[in-house]
Amino acid sequence: MEKVVNLCKRRGFVFPGSEIYGGLGSSLDYGPLGVELKRNVKDAWLRAVVTGRDDVVGIDAAIIMHPGVWEASGHLAGFTDPLVDCKSCKQRFRADDLQGPRCPACGGELTESRQFNLMFKTFVGPVEDTAHVAYLRPETAQGIFVNFRNVVETSRLKIPFGIAQIGKSFRNEITPGNFLFRTREFEQMEIEFFVRPGEDDSWFEHWRDERLRWYSRLGLDPEHLRVRPHGGDELAHYAKACCDIEYRFPFGWAELEGIANRTDFDLRRHAGASGKDLSYFDEERRERYLPYVIEPSAGADRSTLAFLVDAFDEDEIEGETRVVLRLHPQLAPYKAAVFPLLRKDGQPERARRIYDALRREFPVDYDQAGSIGRRYRRQDEVGTPYGITVDHQTMQDGTVTVRDRDATTQVRIPEDRLVEELRTKIGQLG
Ligand code: GAP
Repeated sequence: MEKVVNLCKRRGFVFPGSEIYGGLGSSLDYGPLGVELKRNVKDAWLRAVVTGRDDVVGIDAAIIMHPGVWEASGHLAGFTDPLVDCKSCKQRFRADDLQGPRCPACGGELTESRQFNLMFKTFVGPVEDTAHVAYLRPETAQGIFVNFRNVVETSRLKIPFGIAQIGKSFRNEITPGNFLFRTREFEQMEIEFFVRPGEDDSWFEHWRDERLRWYSRLGLDPEHLRVRPHGGDELAHYAKACCDIEYRFPFGWAELEGIANRTDFDLRRHAGASGKDLSYFDEERRERYLPYVIEPSAGADRSTLAFLVDAFDEDEIEGETRVVLRLHPQLAPYKAAVFPLLRKDGQPERARRIYDALRREFPVDYDQAGSIGRRYRRQDEVGTPYGITVDHQTMQDGTVTVRDRDATTQVRIPEDRLVEELRTKIGQLG
């Protein structure tokens, strides 16, 4: 984990947030390469669950919602963690994380446990009184439920169908940590899939299997993935069934994504609280019902961390250790890098032309500094799958070498076939 964190800082994937002010606990900023990687993760998710299907559409709801939403959803009353304070060193802990009765930091006496609501509170407008309290959303899901009727009325979708959303969520976590794994501000990728009651169990299985396949298709080692069904005592207040897709992080198995059967809990609560009819009329069956909801809920940052950790590798090439990120080409920030072997004989100009042509098709890097070996290493370290070198022979016959990051083998191909060749190798980015 430490090696991944160092690489992220050194190569501009992830920086400590507000670093020049000494940082802010577990606040992290994505740098130039990290933002590309995370966007590729989100794009791959969108392709898999929205644009690649004909039964899911997207929305983008507001982060600050009507406070009535959180009252109805149960978050105001129940979105809490048990909190204890150390009477000596004043540190705070989640009571359910503690092993013994004393402070794990200094051995001091702990206070009684009390419930701490994880929602960030703010005020809408200039008056800071109870009438103007609002919350930053702790999940994107509620933005979908409150728009269920809007989507039904403005589209021709028929149940079963889903609404998907990617966006920021906020939780005032008592113990954030493990780098991108648990932060107070993070991005979720959520689907609320509306089904006819009675058909919920098979859709739950569909989404559990679909989502598990997505992670391994994008390169996570299947040995590092497992599905863990929740026991009855750990089910969320809204869930009939739930399972976690877990990943074996360096700090142990932990949740990557939750799949929940939320029943009609949310629509029923919002219908009751808002007074609006949120039922659905099934024209074919001539019946009206409140749909059940299957919710696959993933974290964009947590997935990005899993893809980074799983891709990180060190091997030996010609007696030297190299660090390589074996990222799936669809996730890699750069798909290729172009290098002139020498900084003379017209090679830089030729390489630059190739770079300009490729750049119109994919994110590509250009590097002419240092030995070719060092340049390959720099790209291996950030996961660039292909290295294209312009050399003496290119100037004679128009062929370039294409080096494969993982096998480190090279093939020569004509310059004018590069785009086609890379497109095939990388796969449709769509
Ligand atoms: N709408 C259901 C829901 O929010 P959750 O299990 O609390 O369920 C879903 O969150 C996913 O969001 C998690 O599996 C994780 O990937 C991500 N997530 C939750 N809290 C997070 C945090 N503090 N930091 C980073 N990601 C988080």
